[in-house]
Amino acid sequence: MADVVLKGVRKQYGEAVVVPGVDLTIRSGEFVVLVGPSGCGKSTTLRMIAGLEEITAGELSIDGRRVNEVHPKDRDIAMVFQSYALYPHMTARENMSFGLKIRGMTKAEIEARVGEAADILGLAELLDRKPKDMSGGQRQRVAMGRAIVRKPKVFLFDEPLSNLDAKLRVQMRAEIAKLHQRIQTTIVYVTHDQVEAMTLADRIVIMDKGVVQQVGTPLEVFEHPRNRFVAGFIGSPAMNFIACELGPGGLLTGDGLRLELPGNRQALEGRSGPVELGMRPNTLAVSRAGAEPRADRLRAKIEVMEPMGSETYLYATCQGQLLTVRVEATAALAEGDTIELAPDLERAHLFDRATGEAFF
Ligand SMILES: Nc1ncnc2c1ncn2[C@@H]1O[C@H](COP(=O)(O)OP(=O)(O)OP(=O)(O)O)[C@@H](O)[C@H]1O
Ligand SMILES: [Mg+2]
Repeated sequence: MADVVLKGVRKQYGEAVVVPGVDLTIRSGEFVVLVGPSGCGKSTTLRMIAGLEEITAGELSIDGRRVNEVHPKDRDIAMVFQSYALYPHMTARENMSFGLKIRGMTKAEIEARVGEAADILGLAELLDRKPKDMSGGQRQRVAMGRAIVRKPKVFLFDEPLSNLDAKLRVQMRAEIAKLHQRIQTTIVYVTHDQVEAMTLADRIVIMDKGVVQQVGTPLEVFEHPRNRFVAGFIGSPAMNFIACELGPGGLLTGDGLRLELPGNRQALEGRSGPVELGMRPNTLAVSRAGAEPRADRLRAKIEVMEPMGSETYLYATCQGQLLTVRVEATAALAEGDTIELAPDLERAHLFDRATGEAFF
């Protein structure tokens, strides 16, 4: 177990600044997940921690020791990639033993470690099979086994489950959670997948364009997104946004709309100006539209209904924007219906339209 500390860690390819400077302290034993859109610098950051990518500026330390100049194999970390990178001509046992053999470990010790890892990962029956005779999930487990047997201080995972089908992904996600509970090693895990991030992480790091936007527990970043980017990125289906003007006394106006923010949400200190109101799909109450539009409701037309079984998602247009609304599966609504949406302003979010900063 080890702390991993990044101080102003920067990556630049020639003139191109990919990661301007990440400050992040990952505590010993912590499971940290990096998320963000494609190209935002997740893999680059992970590869700098691994030592596979040179650090342009800043400092990286593992367990209190600066490792910028330390060779990857001497950093005491193990990385699991999306492509499992197993040796095709070797059995699972040989794949897992190989790195240890190279390090000159005794046969008995290697056997003990491979046995232990196989036990943790449920691979005991498969040790004499080659990768081509295994399923994707089994191969993935061997790749993890190969990392575990080294007993590293830190595990790095780069989208380890993205090659698996949906069902297997769920299963392997649970395996990884169990694995962390059992071995308690520090983990830095990169994924595209929201659900993976929310379910696995002690803390989530949300990146955009190489810059860390927010670091927090899954609940913190969901309930209190610091800015518009995080609000739109975390949560599935995504948060809805409506542009309005914030006036004195917490009054929101826009396009026939007039909403009064509840008193406890008025930590606005006389601020006013262009804002965006953010509403999660489960915080909009649906009713049938009356003859006349109401200023305290959003009037919308249902374009598409997506029944998910236990619930239904409505996609409805309102002022030219598509809103997502979660309703009960039994709701008596149909495509083409005009509806009224009452936002729960106790649970809504408000963002400065110019800076994207959250007001609360
Ligand atoms: N050798 C290079 N020269 C210039 N730019 C590079 C180089 N390698 C990577 N990049 C750029 O760095 C940025 C970050 O890439 P990175 O692989 O870290 O993204 P990512 O967040 O892992 O994305 P994905 O989710 O698609 O895997 C990208 O815009 C990429 O084009
Ligand atoms: Mg990547």
